[in-house]
Amino acid sequence: MQDKIVMVTGANSGMGLATTMELARRGAYVIMVCRSAERGEIARAAAIIESGSQNIELMIADLGDLDSIRRFVIEYKSRYQVLDVLINNAGVVSLKRQLTSNGFEMNIGINHLGHFLLTNLLLDRLMVADQGRIVNVSSGAYKVGKIHVEDPSLKKGYNVAKGYAQSKLANILFTKQLAVRLKGTRVTVNCLHPGAVLTNLGVDRKTGFGKRVYMLLRPFFLSAEQGSQSAIYLATAPEISGVSGEYFYRQQIQKLSPRATNMIDAQWLWQWSEEQVGL
Ligand SMILES: NC(=O)c1ccc[n+]([C@@H]2O[C@H](COP(=O)([O-])OP(=O)(O)OC[C@H]3O[C@@H](n4cnc5c(N)ncnc54)[C@H](OP(=O)(O)O)[C@@H]3O)[C@@H](O)[C@H]2O)c1
Repeated sequence: MQDKIVMVTGANSGMGLATTMELARRGAYVIMVCRSAERGEIARAAAIIESGSQNIELMIADLGDLDSIRRFVIEYKSRYQVLDVLINNAGVVSLKRQLTSNGFEMNIGINHLGHFLLTNLLLDRLMVADQGRIVNVSSGAYKVGKIHVEDPSLKKGYNVAKGYAQSKLANILFTKQLAVRLKGTRVTVNCLHPGAVLTNLGVDRKTGFGKRVYMLLRPFFLSAEQGSQSAIYLATAPEISGVSGEYFYRQQIQKLSPRATNMIDAQWLWQWSEEQVGL
């Protein structure tokens, strides 16, 4: 990964931080994309110590805020001509129905729409890399998900499983449709399920609510380092340089359930997402 520029969203916590540390250790220049400068700086300092690399930079973007994403991309492009790897890792699990600053239901707004805009705006920089890679961190939770074409913002009958699973299914359909659009280029896009991993996902950042449940279940979870292996593999492995549009678990391509291979839904989602983010 020497001299490669890698961008990791949600890099201050959990698997994003573990991915940052390992890729920096392997020689990459890592851009940590975080929404909080304070949490980002603390994590960056830890990543520098842990990896032994100074090539770790913090940049600020809130994936729940389209203006923030656009500002971030303008800044990135003013300084860097190329992007080798984009790891769309940031994610939330929203227990109640909440809205982003642009009025999107929070799971789909951050987990899918924020990354949809970010990725599309960065495609030109990925295209000029030797072999650009996009890695979307999805989840096995997609299996209980559905794209609610009539009500994607889940105004009716919201529950956390419905919201999170829809957003993680959207990560996969986005991967599928983007792979079609990237055919004939050197850029690949793949997605993954990391396993059940002990992180801060679903833990309230202010109150810490949810942390105790994790601690009780600790023996059943992978560590963040273990959970980050799939993203690191998809970002680095030479043998998959020509593989695109696939869903991985434990470094193996997995068969997807029919809803995640429905290209009519994938096309609908693409068009809807373009309209929502104003592309
Ligand atoms: N943990 C699991 O068992 C599991 C299983 C399957 C899939 N996943 C997926 O793995 C990915 C990483 O999650 P994790 O488990 O490592 O959780 P985590 O420790 O909670 O990390 C999530 C990261 O996303 C960031 N983030 C959240 N909202 C953001 C926003 N609006 N803008 C920018 N960054 C934002 C968080 O920043 P703050 O610290 O500022 O909130 C944090 O850095 C997620 O996509 C998740 O869906 C996790």
